[in-house]
Amino acid sequence: MIGSDPTKTQLHFGENLSNEIEVLMSKPNTFAIIDCRVYQLYADFFNKTKRFVYYFTHEGNKSLELVQQICNFLLKNNADRHSTLVAIGGGIIGDMAGFASSIYMRGINCIQVPTTLLAQVDAGIGGKTGVNTKTDSGLIKNAIGRFHFPSDVYIFPQFLQTLDTTQFLCGIGEVIKTSALDKEVFEFFTENQKKIYNKNMVALDTIVKLCANFKNNIVKKDPFETTGLRKILNFGHTVGHAIEAQKDNQLSHGKCVLQGMKLEMDMLKEHIDKDFYNSFQKLIVKALGDKNISYNSQKLLNSARKDKKNVGGKISIMCATNVGKCKEFLLTEDEFLNRLNLCQQSQ
Ligand SMILES: NC(=O)c1ccc[n+]([C@@H]2O[C@H](COP(=O)([O-])OP(=O)(O)OC[C@H]3O[C@@H](n4cnc5c(N)ncnc54)[C@H](O)[C@@H]3O)[C@@H](O)[C@H]2O)c1
Ligand SMILES: [Zn+2]
Repeated sequence: MIGSDPTKTQLHFGENLSNEIEVLMSKPNTFAIIDCRVYQLYADFFNKTKRFVYYFTHEGNKSLELVQQICNFLLKNNADRHSTLVAIGGGIIGDMAGFASSIYMRGINCIQVPTTLLAQVDAGIGGKTGVNTKTDSGLIKNAIGRFHFPSDVYIFPQFLQTLDTTQFLCGIGEVIKTSALDKEVFEFFTENQKKIYNKNMVALDTIVKLCANFKNNIVKKDPFETTGLRKILNFGHTVGHAIEAQKDNQLSHGKCVLQGMKLEMDMLKEHIDKDFYNSFQKLIVKALGDKNISYNSQKLLNSARKDKKNVGGKISIMCATNVGKCKEFLLTEDEFLNRLNLCQQSQ
């Protein structure tokens, strides 16, 4: 298998969407899984592709059953160990097709073509693949999965022109997170916010490229999250995931991460540079609006308790303390609850 070497993932930033997709898809022994909405919107680009399937994307059917269907499609079309599977869509298609390519014939090459902002700056890069699973206590997100690194990621920001506002804002959550972790992203985002929100192509191209390269570089240094470096990408995610669970996955991930970053910074305010706190909170409020998402502290604790990052019974929070500086804070359950309650009282 050619792919799945974390140090070899190549990012390509495309300009000529239709030509490049045509070239990609016309390679021999190449199969594609395409998001149904992307297929409908960009049907012309896929005219020449004979082999594809597309599904209605939904967290509820990001499942082993669908991965099984992808594998059956590959078998039916005589895909072999040297085939390449191209995932064209948002994070759901990317995670499922990525997972299928990690197990089909014990692993085949995978190429990601992320089409949402969230997938272009985050989900399409980094080799985390997987599916959700239904249990008696509800849907457990990404419970089953593998690391399987794409050989190539083709990023065409033109796709973002057709994203609806909710989906676009979802990706903005991860862009704002990245801006806390990297000075260049912070400066560009702060200076070009208006253009980015208006989907100005030049500004979008630049911010997507900066964020995607930032993530890819972190992943190359710590592909399997063993040195601790990759953990910084989880800023806002301990509380963000807990909010997502409390709202039964009805709120977008990006929105929950924005609220998660806001709360984590409030919980740890004494450790955070004042100027950074003020300017970063403004970015969050602009994206989220000034209305906070309601939450129940005890329920957030119940979810945060299950976070994969926790150590020795303490809750791990990765929190940016200044631009480009992110630290891990380990809180006892009591501390976590008390600090959250204090934030709630001051709102
Ligand atoms: N693997 C990772 O590292 C990683 C990281 C973050 C999130 N994720 C996963 O990503 C998933 C969320 O991804 P997402 O936010 O991209 O959602 P998604 O894949 O559900 O796509 C969102 C919606 O946008 C539509 N869409 C996609 N591209 C479009 C385009 N160009 N124009 C118009 N509509 C388009 C889709 O049909 C879908 O309805 C979650 O399952 C999450 O667990 C994975
Ligand atoms: Zn995220």
